[in-house]
Amino acid sequence: MDQRETLEKAYQAWKERVLEPFVHKSGGATDNRVETVSEIPVNPLYTPLDAPDAQYLDKLGFPGEYPFTRGIYPNMYRGRLWTMRQYAGFGTAEESNLRYRYLLEQGQTGLSVAFDLPTQMGYDSDAPEAQGEVGKVGVAIDTLKDMEILLDQIPLDRVSVSMTINAPAAILLLMVVAVAKRQGVDIRRLSGTIQNDILKEYAARGTYIFPPKPSMRLITDIFRWCSVHLPHWNTISISGYHIREAGSTAAQEVAFTLANGMEYVKAALEAGLAVDQFAPRLSFFFNAHMDFFEEIAKYRAARRLWAEIMRTRFGAQDPRSWQLRFHTQTAGSTLTAQQPDTNVVRVTLQALAAVLGGTQSLHTNAKDEALALPTEESARLALRTQQVIAYESGVTATVDPLGGSYYIEWLTDRIMQQALYYIDQIDQRGGAVAAIEAGYIQREIQDAAYRFQQKVETGEQVIVGVNRFRLEEPPPSQLMRVDEAIGRRQVEKLHQVKAARDPKRVTDALARLEQAASRPDAPLMEPLLEAVESYATLGEMVGVLKKHFGQYRPPVFI
Ligand code: 3HC
Repeated sequence: MDQRETLEKAYQAWKERVLEPFVHKSGGATDNRVETVSEIPVNPLYTPLDAPDAQYLDKLGFPGEYPFTRGIYPNMYRGRLWTMRQYAGFGTAEESNLRYRYLLEQGQTGLSVAFDLPTQMGYDSDAPEAQGEVGKVGVAIDTLKDMEILLDQIPLDRVSVSMTINAPAAILLLMVVAVAKRQGVDIRRLSGTIQNDILKEYAARGTYIFPPKPSMRLITDIFRWCSVHLPHWNTISISGYHIREAGSTAAQEVAFTLANGMEYVKAALEAGLAVDQFAPRLSFFFNAHMDFFEEIAKYRAARRLWAEIMRTRFGAQDPRSWQLRFHTQTAGSTLTAQQPDTNVVRVTLQALAAVLGGTQSLHTNAKDEALALPTEESARLALRTQQVIAYESGVTATVDPLGGSYYIEWLTDRIMQQALYYIDQIDQRGGAVAAIEAGYIQREIQDAAYRFQQKVETGEQVIVGVNRFRLEEPPPSQLMRVDEAIGRRQVEKLHQVKAARDPKRVTDALARLEQAASRPDAPLMEPLLEAVESYATLGEMVGVLKKHFGQYRPPVFI
């Protein structure tokens, strides 16, 4: 009898002789979930029978080489910790600059800029559509002047800047480039990321402006321009975070994100770019949700799947094109307004899962973010959470410490198989853009979200402090409030910049931008940079593009 048969017999005997009598004696009750939060049924025990190590080399391999399941760098955090990159931004550029410099002083190692909705939607702060939103959920940026203030005393040759900006990403990127040039920084060394992922905006987040085709034209022109001028810049952060926040399962988060990634690769190839010219600078952004082991397995499955897709589907030869490098944010949707201190525990577990899953960059939510933007104190505690994991927990000492766990390897395979099912469904519909336009991805997310919410309503899914272990508590105090006068101050500053700039330089730059926008194959980055440096406003530049690109209207589906 071979070793596998011996083990199978022993496992059956254990279940009959030990497990079942014990469960029977205790009345057979199960005090908690017996499936992952994404509804994957979980066995009471995993053994080598569940994760045969025979395929070690083709499924797992070693860190730093194909298929990167165990991590994208050979020594991971032994060589360099993940970037501690707290998402922050509110009010005017002055207020946000102070918060950035404070967090950097407290040990943060990368910047992550949150923009207000008018900026994300391409409106100036004095636009009617901007009223009441200026500086609310992020910082207000109208012109290059604001970006100069936002990045004042931030050493761009040493600190990488990530920007959560999508539809107008090209414009905000070029503002950073213009500031770096003014700081005397060699822009070939400039490091950072723009989210620039419009497909998930159509599917889940909603800050879109232009229809898919012109959006893809802007995105692939950014790939082109950065491959020449900004070799260290990550041109896109293909995001699963918001897909998960909208209620998807872990496998859907992987599948829909990678399907979007494939759409960007296809669009860049159609625009004439070579895959290894742009693929090394694609990056990803995932959620760190509540099911600890499922999240760790999710990242490992995503790395292996992307490596396979890039090498087999797109023929990428450069190993850097196969590497799935990602940022993680702990799940905002799991934060509770009730007993907010409990959120520190949630965020710690989620952050630990992201680290054990091999993230390259991490944002930890603050405990009060279900109620308001984080205070300086809660933002500091969120950063300290990462620092305790990094410097005190010991989990950085070895690469992929949970690799080889029967459960983790079984779960990594399960998530990979489920993700492949959804990718096949999307392929059958003609790719992610078509699947979004048909409402397929949105419906899958909504169905999963509904099933999860039903479990919360029935109490099957416990949310501590919300549907169990509730507490009568006083209304929260010391919450962050954005000063209502912010909007007025920002508009005054905008009008001062417009009064001081050279009107002819702006008019000529906007005319050249319009000319480029009217010709489908004309490059856009160069005329956009000229307009940015003329102190044209974001609204003026987006207004010119809208004339020729139109605006996106979401499909109505029942
Ligand atoms: N040994 C030696 N070198 C190492 C190393 C090691 N062990 N580990 C990393 N390095 C090197 C890397 O090779 C890299 O060098 P390079 O630039 O020359 O290639 C350098 O160190 C930096 O390492 P990473 O690139 O891994 O880390 P970064 O932090 O610079 O980049 C990223 C990480 C994921 C690739 C990048 O895209 C990134 O920072 N993304 C962040 C995105 C983000 O912050 N998004 C926030 C969105 S908020 C939002 O949308 C939510 C809201 O809507 C609610």
